[in-house]
Parts: sequence; structure tokens; C-alpha cells
Amino acid sequence: MRLLTLRLTISLIIGITLISLFSSYYEVRSQKRALRRDLEHRAEVLGESLADKVEPLLKKGSRKELQIIVDQFGNREHLEGVAVYNPQGESIALTPGLAQRLTGEPAAVQQAATTSRGAGEYIRRGEVSVYIYAAPLHQEEAVVGALAIMHDASYINAQSRRVWRDTFLRVLALVVLITVTTLLIVRWSITGPIARAAQWMHALRTGKISSRPAASDLDLFRPLAREMANFAASLTAARSAAEKEAQLRQTADAFWTAERLSVHLRGKLGESRLFVVSNREPYIHKHQGKSVEAIVPASGLVTALEPVLRACDGTWVAHGSGDADRETVDKYDRLRVPPDDPRYTLRRVWLSKEEEEGYYYGFSNEGLWPLCHIAHTRPVFRGSDWEHYERANRRFADAVLKEMEGMERPVLLAQDYHFALLPRMIKKARPDARVAIFWHIPWPNPEAFGICPWQRELVDGLLGADLVGFHIQSHCTNFLQTVDRALESRIDWEHFTVNREEHRTVVKPFPISVEFPENAPPAEPGESVYMERVALLRELGIEAAFLGVGVDRVDYTKGILERFLAIERLLEKHATYRDKFTFLQIGAPSRTHIKRYHDLLGEVEAEADRINWRFQTGKWKPIVFKKRQHSHQEIQRFYRTADLCLVTSLHDGMNLVAKEFVAARQDEQGVLVLSRFTGAARELPDALLVNPYDIEQMAEAIRFALEMSTEERRARMQRMRIVVRERNIYRWASTLIAELCEVRLDEPANRLESQSSPPLAKSA
Ligand code: F6P
Repeated sequence: MRLLTLRLTISLIIGITLISLFSSYYEVRSQKRALRRDLEHRAEVLGESLADKVEPLLKKGSRKELQIIVDQFGNREHLEGVAVYNPQGESIALTPGLAQRLTGEPAAVQQAATTSRGAGEYIRRGEVSVYIYAAPLHQEEAVVGALAIMHDASYINAQSRRVWRDTFLRVLALVVLITVTTLLIVRWSITGPIARAAQWMHALRTGKISSRPAASDLDLFRPLAREMANFAASLTAARSAAEKEAQLRQTADAFWTAERLSVHLRGKLGESRLFVVSNREPYIHKHQGKSVEAIVPASGLVTALEPVLRACDGTWVAHGSGDADRETVDKYDRLRVPPDDPRYTLRRVWLSKEEEEGYYYGFSNEGLWPLCHIAHTRPVFRGSDWEHYERANRRFADAVLKEMEGMERPVLLAQDYHFALLPRMIKKARPDARVAIFWHIPWPNPEAFGICPWQRELVDGLLGADLVGFHIQSHCTNFLQTVDRALESRIDWEHFTVNREEHRTVVKPFPISVEFPENAPPAEPGESVYMERVALLRELGIEAAFLGVGVDRVDYTKGILERFLAIERLLEKHATYRDKFTFLQIGAPSRTHIKRYHDLLGEVEAEADRINWRFQTGKWKPIVFKKRQHSHQEIQRFYRTADLCLVTSLHDGMNLVAKEFVAARQDEQGVLVLSRFTGAARELPDALLVNPYDIEQMAEAIRFALEMSTEERRARMQRMRIVVRERNIYRWASTLIAELCEVRLDEPANRLESQSSPPLAKSA
């Protein structure tokens, strides 16, 4: 830093000095010229007027009178004297004292006499500069001598010297000022902030408590500030995780963290790598005006898997669905994410509009989705959609295989109902790969699944995997029963495995979960939550004493209309909650290209309007419907401040909103009203479990939640938090991957056999 200060000071000094020197030089030069011009002019005027006086005396030959005149000019300012010369160049009259200073006839006198015109010259006499002006003397046109006027011109040089001296003093003052200012600026704006930032980093490194430097300090490092902040956050998180780990080792706690998962996976995977394939990508890049923004989609799958990928730096293969997605990948269609803190690789797969229409909207979401969710929406199966589904599975499988190239024994976690065919495709090409598929939605009973014209192909594709995971045991049972009906295979009901064509598939439940915010300080109920809610209601323009919240994609399986009816029933039956209870429904529009979803969005809005119209008064209304996707951070605020959360799915594999609500309630308050038809209901019996088709029961559950004592709310929430904390997403990933790594890969001889397509039909 000293070197920087020195360089800065020297450069400024050199710059300022050069500028001062140049400007002084020009000032001196022009001042000198002006003074000389003035002197020459004055000498000329005096010379001409004296010549007029001298010429008659010369004619008269009166030397005495001539001497009287020249004597008069001895004592004037800067005027040394006057001399009159005859044509031979001899002085005939001189101001007293001038004779000693003149050494001979001045050149100007000779010039004036010969040219018959006034002439001037500067001469040096020792230290003194003298200006001599000579005017010719005439008698009837003939030159009869010359008159010389001598001025002491030293004052001109003296004036220049004064200017140079002033310049020197000015430069000196500037040098002092610049040095002091530079030192102060460097100290205040550079060394000070750097020292404080370094102190902060040091404190972070050594684990001491230190507050983050002021924004003005970090301003200097604007380009670095974000990185530094992320670095600090990661360091703090890492330290607290390490402390946690140490505590856990001491207490032999079974709690899973990102770090523990990462160590665990490294041990399990060895040189290999983790691959995930899903339809939905974790970051969608979209054009927003002139800029490009990365959006995290509303998806339980993304909520669950993102922390896992962050923990173990794998590769996530997914459909690139954003309009700016292609602009943000490299030539291999890859990018590192999360965008502001890259931890793993996202590999995007491109689909044409027709492919997306047939594979995603058509077969996956108009066919399999309603088929697996018994929610009274009829599945639609089109031959063209099935073809697109097959092709898309092949497309994604190729992308996964490409990513796996050069990697021995890779581990793949395929996700969801979009990829039933992919496990077999991968396994066929890479028998050394360990392949699991996790089915995030329910698996219905074999009769229900049996209406799918391609049930055998789907089940066969899934059985290509080494491990098929569901959220709960009953979905595993339904799946095995479907296998039993659809295909020729050997099912081991004791171990829940299927043997088909010498390949063994394990079928197991792995209840998925969320990340539990372990590092956040425990919050107390009361003031802060209350204030947060007041601010939230003010933003919503609502006055209400009680607040309920629901967070869903707008999907017919989520029971949104049913919960609105329950709210209506509550207000009908218990008028005391009118003007008091408001329900905030966050609804992220989803799959709106499908008519059923598009219509549902309208129905939800209309139903909220109808109920509001019926009950609303002044600044209160029963339902606030926010129809847009909200970020994870925004939603946390709703979870934290609500008295209750309604999860009323008609059928749901797990439902992570229920677990997210519990994870967010650090104050151990809030009541979860939960549909018994969700996977989450199996793990959270301390929620108020409801049948979403029973409107009366749901209305009573809401009332019961609002009237529950603080102690009971706390006791229930504490128990639910223990479950969610212990069975968090890291545990889900670790058990799933551990199970997968336990799987014995098929013997090579068997592999060759199994590569020929297995017969699909069940033998008679
Ligand atoms: O529940 C199944 C599922 O794929 C979830 O994993 C995810 O939250 C949801 O559907 C989102 O669906 P989509 O990706 O079609 O928006």
C-alpha cells in the first residue's frame, strides 16, 4: 500500500509541477513581451519628442542648451539618461554619469543615423539589461546626428523572476497539499476499508464474532463484494456445520447435514460421480426486459434435490425450458449453478415444441399424472403423445450417457414419471451404472394403472433400474402388484424385489423431505412474528386477527377449491371468525397449456371472488389469492407469520409444503392442517389430519386450529419439527444412494442375456 501511495503522490506531483511550469513559462513570456513593448513604445514617444526639441538647438550650435536638456532626463523612473551624437558618432551632450556606462557609440545610434529612422536595441551591461532607443536628428532632410535614450530594462527580468518564484512557492504548496490529501484519501478510502475487511475476514477465519463492514467500506470492492459476502456466508455455514458435526459425533446423533452427506457420498461414490435426470430444471433463465434472470421453479422436486446436488457437486440433466436458456450454456449445453455460487453442473436438453407438447404436456401430464393421482380427472392417452414420450426418454438417456462418458460405475438418480423408460435405456448401454428412479407421485392400485395402454412398457422400463423408490410403502405395494399383473417376473414379497430376465430391482419407500434450517437462531414467538404479520397484512391491504396460508401450484390434485369451501363453511357456521380470519392462497400457475389447468385457474379465482363477495366487509376479506410464483424467501415470511397452513391435496405423493411450513416455524407455533391423502400425513400425525372431500370436517379443523392453546400448538409443532429435522433431505439422499450402492450389479453373463429385449407379456 505504501508503494501505491508513493506512486500516486509522485505521479500527482509530477503532473501538477509540469502543468505549473508550462503555465508559468507562458505567463512569463507574455508578460515579458508586454513589458518590453511598453518600454519600447515609451522610449520611442520620448525619443521623437526630444528630437523635435534638440534639432533647433543643434542647428544653432548651442551645446550649452543641449546639455541643459539632456540633464533633465537623468532622474526619471528606469531612465538612465539621454545622449546626443554628431554625424561622426561622437557624443556631444550626455546626461551626467552616462559617460561611465557607455563604452562607445551604440549600434542603434549608427543604425538610426544610416537608415534615418528610429532604431532600438537591448544590451547587457554586467547584470544590468539596458534598452537603447536612437532617433535620427535632421536638418533640412539631412541626418545631422542622433539622439539616444537609455532605459534600465532590468525591472523586466526582475518581474519574470518574481513570477518564477511565485510559481515555485505555489508548486511547493500544492505538493504539500497533494501529499497530505493523497495520504488521507488512501487511508480513509482504501487502506481503512481494506484493513476493516481484512479484520472481518480474519475474524471469520478464526471463528470470532465480528460484524460485517459497512456498505461504504465494501463499496470499494464492489466487484469482489458479492464474492466476499458469499465466501463469508459459506465459511460461516461450513464452520457451523463442522461444529454441528463435532457435536453430533459426540452425541452420536443421526442428524444429516449437507457436509455429512457430501462426505458420505464421497465414500460411497469413490472416483465416480452422481448424475440426476429430471424434466424440470433447477434454474430457468428468462428474459426480463433487457436482462436475463435465473428463476427457481415452483417444484417440490427442485426444492428437494437442489441441496443434494449442492452438497456433492454432481451433474443434473434437465429440460432447458427458459427462453434465455440457450444463451447461458456453453458449447456442451452445460453451465455451473447456482448462478451466484456455482456448486454443480446443469446439463440442458432441448426439446422441440411438438416434443414438449407430446411428452410433457400430453403423455406425462394428461396421461400419467391423472392416472397416478386418483383425483377424478380422466387420463387422456394418445398414441402420438406416447411416441413423443418414448423419443424424449431416448433423448434424455442419450444426454445422460454422454455426460457419463469416461466415468466408471456412475450413479444415476432418475426423477419422476417423465422417465419411466429411461432406466432400462441407461442400463442397457451402461450395465456398470447404478440406476435408481424415484417416483415422486403416487402409484395407484393395479386396476387403476391397468387402464394405461402402455402399462407393460412403462413397468418394464422402470424395472431396468436397480432401485425404484416411492414415498411410502403402499405405493411400493401397488407397484409390485402392478408388476405382478403386467409382466412375467419373480417377485420376492419378503424383500420387495423383482427378478426379471436375470436383473434384480429393489423397490423401497424413501420419504422425501426438505432442508431443515439448522443454522438459523431459534426464534421466540411474540413481538417479531407479530410485527412481521402486521407488515404483511398492511402490504396485502387487509385487516385481520387470524391468518391462514396455502402454497401450491394451481393443480386439481391440490384441493384448493375444497379448502375455499371449507373456509366458507367456517364463516357460515362460526360467524365470530368473520372480519377476523383471512386465508392467503399463494397459487403458482402451472401447466396452463393444458385446458384442465387453464380452466382451474379461472375456477379458483372465481371461487375466491364468490366467497369474498359473500362475506367481505371494509378492509377485511376471507380469501386473498396471489396468482403468481413466489420465491422461496417470500414464502418463508408467509409460513412464519400464519396461524395455520392448509395442505388439502386430494392425493399427493408426499407434499413438501407441509414439511416446509414445519421447518420454517422456529417459534414452534402455527398449526398444520393436512390432508390424510398425502405421503406427509404418514410422518406428521401431529398435524390436524383431514379428509379434503369432507368440507364440514375441514371447517372444524380450521376452527380447532385457531382455538388451539399455545401449549398444544407448541407440543405438536415440536414433535413435527423433530421428525422433519431428523428425516431431512440429506437423510433421504443418503439412504437412497446408500441403498443403490449396496445393489449387486448383474453378472456379465447375465448382462449379455438381458440386453436382448425381454418379452413384455406375462406368460400364461
Ligand atoms: O409431484 C410431481 C412433480 O414432478 C414434483 O416433483 C414437482 O413439484 C411438480 O410435479 C412440478 O411439476 P412441473 O415440473 O410439471 O411443474
